[in-house]
Amino acid sequence: MTEEIHFTKGAVRATIYEEIAPQIAELVRASDDPIANMANAAAVLKQALGFFWVGFYRVTAPAMLTVGPYQGDLACVSIPFDKGVCGAAARTRKTIIVPDVDKFPGHIACSSLSKSEIVVPFVRDGETRFVLDVDSDKLDDFDGTDRVALERIVALVGDAG
Ligand code: SME
Repeated sequence: MTEEIHFTKGAVRATIYEEIAPQIAELVRASDDPIANMANAAAVLKQALGFFWVGFYRVTAPAMLTVGPYQGDLACVSIPFDKGVCGAAARTRKTIIVPDVDKFPGHIACSSLSKSEIVVPFVRDGETRFVLDVDSDKLDDFDGTDRVALERIVALVGDAG
């Protein structure tokens, strides 16, 4: 089992995503515990990409998200599907990129330093099971490269457990 993550420090994000995806695949193959796999995936993303905040919210009751494993400042515990970017991604079952969180109606500011955000849902049998939320302290920090790579990582984590 991988116990150390290898990536090229200072490389562009696309390169680092390519490097870490197979390592996350190997990590999640070792366990069918979804919390363990989310915890390791959040740690790898934080370590390799230095995201300001990265973590998971799980669907724990109908139309309700509860914070799961994450790396970053203290986060809010519960997010209903009709609130925030996480709620919108969970409700629509689509990845949402927010270039400027101040312009997203209903954005939940866990930290005033967060400026842009991407949220990727994992959907099984037509229902959102969890979302991956990544926050940046820079405006407009996420694009299609992040979407494709993070959707791949979310699928790895979701399909493992
Ligand atoms: N900003 C998110 C809430 C979660 S935190 O960013 C960790 C949202 O609007 O759903």
